[in-house]
This record gives sequence, C-alpha cells and structure tokens, in this order.
Amino acid sequence: MMIGGERLQSIWYDRNADTVCIIDQSRLPHEFEIIDLNNLGDACHAITSMQVRGAPLIGVTAAYGVYLALRDDPASLEQATQALLATRPTAVNLQWALQRMNQGLAATAVEQRVTQALEVAQLMEKEDIAICEAIGEHGAAILANLWEAKRESQSALNVLTHCNAGALATVDWGTALAVVYKAVAAGVPVHVWVDETRPRNQGAALTCWELGQQDIPHTLVVDNAGGHLMQQGKVDICVVGSDRTTLDGDVCNKIGTYLKALAADDNAVPFYAAVPISSIDFSATQEGIPIEERAADEVSHITGLADDGLVKRVRVAPHGVAISNIGFDITPARLVTGIITERGVFEASRASLQQLSTALD
Ligand code: MRU
Repeated sequence: MMIGGERLQSIWYDRNADTVCIIDQSRLPHEFEIIDLNNLGDACHAITSMQVRGAPLIGVTAAYGVYLALRDDPASLEQATQALLATRPTAVNLQWALQRMNQGLAATAVEQRVTQALEVAQLMEKEDIAICEAIGEHGAAILANLWEAKRESQSALNVLTHCNAGALATVDWGTALAVVYKAVAAGVPVHVWVDETRPRNQGAALTCWELGQQDIPHTLVVDNAGGHLMQQGKVDICVVGSDRTTLDGDVCNKIGTYLKALAADDNAVPFYAAVPISSIDFSATQEGIPIEERAADEVSHITGLADDGLVKRVRVAPHGVAISNIGFDITPARLVTGIITERGVFEASRASLQQLSTALD
C-alpha cells in the first residue's frame, strides 16, 4: 500500500535488526507508528490489543510469533502455538497459520527450527501478497462488468464495505479493498461507502485512512445508513471480507455485516465476500464458529482526537449499564452472491466450495 507516497506493508521482517515490524493500527488514523515485535509476548500482545488485526494479517503475525518464540527457545513450539492460539478466536487464519508452521517444524530437528520458522513465515508473508492481488484481479472483473452496465447513467460505481478488509488487514492489498484497488487500476471510477464499524470503528479509522492514502473517493457513513443508501439506489455492490467462511458458503465477518447483506438482498444489490482460501474453514458449520466477545469498555467508551489535539477516550453510556460486545456475525450463504478467492469466484454453496476443496487436495 502507498503511505505518504512510499510503498509499505502492514508487517515485514527487518533482516538487519532481526526483528518483525508492524504498523501499529491501534493508533491510526491519528498517529502513524511502526513498532517492532521482538518476542512471543510482543506478537501475542499485538494480536490481542489489535495493533494488528484482520484475518490474514493475524495469521502472518502468528507465524512470525512462532519464529520469535523459537529464537528465544527452540524447544518452545508447543507453548508458543498454544499462546498464539489463545489470542483471538474467530479468524480461522490464526489456526491455519499455526497448523502450517507446526506441520513443517514438528518433523525438523530442534536446532534447525529457528531458521525454518523464519523461512516459512517469510514465505507466508509473500504468499499473502500474491493471494490478495489475485483476489483483487478476480473481483475487479465483477466491478468492471457492473460498470459497463451503469456507466451511461452515473459517474462512479458505488461500492459499500464494512470494517476494514484492506491492505491493513492483510500483508498488502487487502481482500475487499484489493477488489477496489484493482478495479480503479483497470479504469473503473469507484466511490466507496465506508461503514464506520462500531465499536472499534475500523471503517472510520482504518478504511478511510487507507483509501485516503490511495486517493480513492470515499464517504464515511454510520453503520445504520447502508439500508437507506441501498433503497435510494446509491449502492451498486457490497464487498466485504471474512474471518471464517464455511463449506456451505456462510460468511462470518465483523458484526453488522449480516444486516448489510439483508438490506442488499431486499434491494437486489449484489453482495460479495472477498476471501483468501486460508479463511475458508472447510470443516466448520455456522453453529461451530467461535464468535469473539470483547471487553465492554469498547462499547461504553469511544476514543478519538479531541479539539486540543490529544487522543482521548470518553464514556458514551451511563455507568453500570449492561453491555454485550459481540465481535462478529454470520451471513448465511443464501444472502451471498459469490465468494471471490485467489482461485476465482465461487458460488456460496457447498457444491461449489466442495469443488474448490477437492481441487486443493
Ligand atoms: O476485529 P477485526 O478488525 O480483526 O475484524 C476484521 C474483519 O472483520 C475483516 O473484515 C476480516 O478480518 C477480513 S480481513 C481481509
């Protein structure tokens, strides 16, 4: 992604310093800071505190976390895996990445594990970039086709997205936003409606910041505006990411995604999920997906830049109110027009995703 005219990733390995660097997303958009992850504790903290977030980026961070743990203690594979697994429950990429690290490392002599862990983590970093680019290309073809049908009657193609499924949620490019970036590069004039995405405001803070850095026209809306915009014919397509997609094509993503899909269905707006195959849990059913519940203070309080230029946290709910902070919801396959992967676009159905699964074997 371009940041201040410079190409940067959300995570990378700095060979000279032998450290893992991340953009601290908990500070955006008010402060831009790159921080180092130097040990397993740093990697776990980065995931739990959401300095890094987004399913694919959580996976790559976990892979580097294994490397950092083994660098300190080459015999700590099991302990590191358990610590990382406990950081966040919903994004299947975490398990996927740790499984992949373990598969390679378990059979390797302990003294060679550190080097191998770094190699595999770096490979996963590289692969994630290529995967997201491919998702972008496949999705951009959908946007280009839609634009052909609409170009006579409007000045831009209106895409609605929820949360942040951009470069910040992956190593680079993103999933849903990769579709936007590739469509824009192919000449489609895109305007993005950005849901603010309470309670943590990933849309307002991260997606708007990221789109601004790439000069993509966008408008921030409150989470409840999507249905109205769709009724007014102001949304041509919804594209979201996913933390875990089932074999049946049910899409688990940031809380509020389901409501957008319902509104899209009611208004005949196509609704796509852009999903790396590492986010598909071929063994999961809707009921089996662990849905993260986060701290109540994310709902009772809100953080932002005050008029005095300082980042402050203020209470928006009365003291003592009962709070539920459910992080994700599941959009059933019947509301999903298609699943955009690095291997092409699939129907959100067991038959279609089973074919993909078989092709991977
Ligand atoms: O809680 P977050 O910010 O990690 O949630 C992120 C999302 O819901 C994204 O849409 C999802 O991880 C897909 S990212 C390509």
